[in-house]
Amino acid sequence: MNTTNPIITLRGGGTALIVELAHPRPRIIHWGADLGDLGASDLDALVTSADPSATHNSTDEPRDLTILPTEADAWSGTPAIEGVVRDGSPYARFVLASHRFDEAAGELDVTLRDERNGLVATVRYRLDRFGVLDVGTTVANESDGEMVYDVGAVTALLPLPDRATEYLDFTGKWSRERSPQRGAIDLGTRLRESRRGRSSLDSPYLLIAGTHGFDFRNGEVWAVHAGWSGNQRYLVEQLPEGAGVFRSILGAGELLLPGEVGLRPGECYQAPEVSFIWSNAGLDGLSGALHRKLRARDTHPRSPRPLTLNTWEAVYFDHDLATLERLVDAASRVGVERIVLDDGWFAGRRNDTNGLGDWIVDTEVWPDGLWPLVDAVREKGMQFGLWFEPEMVNLGSRLAQEHPDWILAPSDGVGAAIRHQYVLNLAHPDAWEHILGRIDALVAEYGIDYIKWDHNRELHEAALRNDRDRAGVHEQTLALYRMLDELKRRHPALEIESCASGGGRVDLGILARTDRVWASDCNDPVERQNIQRWTAQLIPLELIGSHVGAEESHTTHRVTALSFRLATALFGHAGIEADLTRLSREELDTVTAFAALYKELRPLLHSGDLVRGDLADQESVLTGVVSTDRSEAVFSWARLGTSAPAQSGRVRLPGLDPDRGYRIRVRDEIGRTSLHENPPAWLVQAAGDGFSVSGRVAGGAGLPLPTLDAQQAILIHLTSH
Ligand code: DGJ
Repeated sequence: MNTTNPIITLRGGGTALIVELAHPRPRIIHWGADLGDLGASDLDALVTSADPSATHNSTDEPRDLTILPTEADAWSGTPAIEGVVRDGSPYARFVLASHRFDEAAGELDVTLRDERNGLVATVRYRLDRFGVLDVGTTVANESDGEMVYDVGAVTALLPLPDRATEYLDFTGKWSRERSPQRGAIDLGTRLRESRRGRSSLDSPYLLIAGTHGFDFRNGEVWAVHAGWSGNQRYLVEQLPEGAGVFRSILGAGELLLPGEVGLRPGECYQAPEVSFIWSNAGLDGLSGALHRKLRARDTHPRSPRPLTLNTWEAVYFDHDLATLERLVDAASRVGVERIVLDDGWFAGRRNDTNGLGDWIVDTEVWPDGLWPLVDAVREKGMQFGLWFEPEMVNLGSRLAQEHPDWILAPSDGVGAAIRHQYVLNLAHPDAWEHILGRIDALVAEYGIDYIKWDHNRELHEAALRNDRDRAGVHEQTLALYRMLDELKRRHPALEIESCASGGGRVDLGILARTDRVWASDCNDPVERQNIQRWTAQLIPLELIGSHVGAEESHTTHRVTALSFRLATALFGHAGIEADLTRLSREELDTVTAFAALYKELRPLLHSGDLVRGDLADQESVLTGVVSTDRSEAVFSWARLGTSAPAQSGRVRLPGLDPDRGYRIRVRDEIGRTSLHENPPAWLVQAAGDGFSVSGRVAGGAGLPLPTLDAQQAILIHLTSH
């Protein structure tokens, strides 16, 4: 061996991470494909091949990329740890102190000490059986004196090879979340930040690097996600000198403001867990690993995801018992299983200018409390859910009047309102107790099954009034997590949805204590096809709330066919956001048939592998779910707009078993789909008794999928025979 350093290999799900425990700082010598059982000579060669060259006009010795790169390694890129000894030096030299390797658990902890300042950093790598590598870093102040260490940033970083030349990440705005953007990884830093106090509508979400032209089904890809709901940053960075023998680095972490986290002796900062995923099977390979990991969690929702009706777009703030009872009745007749009463039920909340913070039922609108509605819902065998926005406050509320010191804002003024509201400092122990107490009491009183937990503004100047106006997003985020955890502890059956102006808080931090997300306030299926397709890049369909909206979208005012709206809502945790009492008899029959179809297909949709088609025509979207044993699949073939080619031609249905025969049926429960052509022969059969085809033909050669009129979709269902 060229090295006497221990070499640690973590393997799982076809991925490997290999670390050389070199002194003074360990280095990663491989992250990517599992290279198999490496013998001593292979490991030897791997170590030697991890030594970079010493370039001209650079350090005399070659520059390595360590697991904790800082200036101490002559690293000129983004450091893994930034911070400063208060009134002192920003320089820390972490040196390998010890490690712990648990092969069975796939875990390696590496502890490094900075003797100069008495700091200790521990990096934990955990590679699970799905190939997802979680990296957690802690920094502790173990000095004995008075020294305070102000943490600037802790960023989990992993190397990318030369062939990772393109990136894909996401941005967005209200009603258009997770909009993809793509480009070349150039020299320099592509830095994406959220300074909005939440993961945000424009969250990078998943920063993906890949080989040239990677797409859903092809290419080698490396991705990173920060499991955190506060300020955060993502980066892919390439320096001229590279990163050791690698070309660039990929990373993510929490974004801290100056002074936000100061460690006194004995204190420790735990950075949010950052997940890294590698796949050589394109974007579907990444989502497959992530979905399998999430589904294996103890806390993953396992009961059938109830068809939900949310009252928001049906009545908005107009809470009238008779109207709501009619809606509940209509919902029950079509097959809804859960009713969620949205915003507007609490004291003073007649519009969005007042009431937030006063979590008591409005006695004018609800003289008998929520009981008449809750009883109506329960009598029909449905679950009852209620909307809250616990982190927010309107200045006119009783709570804000009585406790101005609980507002998360600078002491000398609250700054700009967003949607007329401000943020409550949940890190204030009294505010935390009060809000938790109100929610807890209501959950207990009405036996609430489900909370839609909303968050409708960004955080600006999130100053802790009770602590010298220190920056407070970090503590606010932790306080929120504690509250969610405590509610779940007190009410183990309670489910919680994460909503934030639509899909503004979708991340694995919030999803560790919630049961689904509201993907977007936009229910227009043209927009939703993309929003849901990309939301599912990280999380499986059962965690994505996807509701059927009104014929005319409330956000885009586009008018779309019911069948297209239903086909779109099917691929998620389905529900209804429309006023069912306005639907015709025929439309209600269709929604009823859809409800039955959703219930029939949800075991498949909520456990199978997501597959997405790579299509030349950008107006077509092929989304499928194939059961894990590949005996069944359902595909949605959707057309967003028109395109020049008259025919779609043969399109391969991904994910099928080539050695199985399948019977394909068109599932027309969603109602009529309008075609832009006479249907191809196979589709005529599939719309009748069924069309038989092998996975080899449907997945290998493909089937001529019909050219649909714009904003239409068909559903095809394959069962093996
Ligand atoms: C924003 C959410 O995204 C909507 O679904 C709705 O709950 C409103 N807030 C209520 O104010």
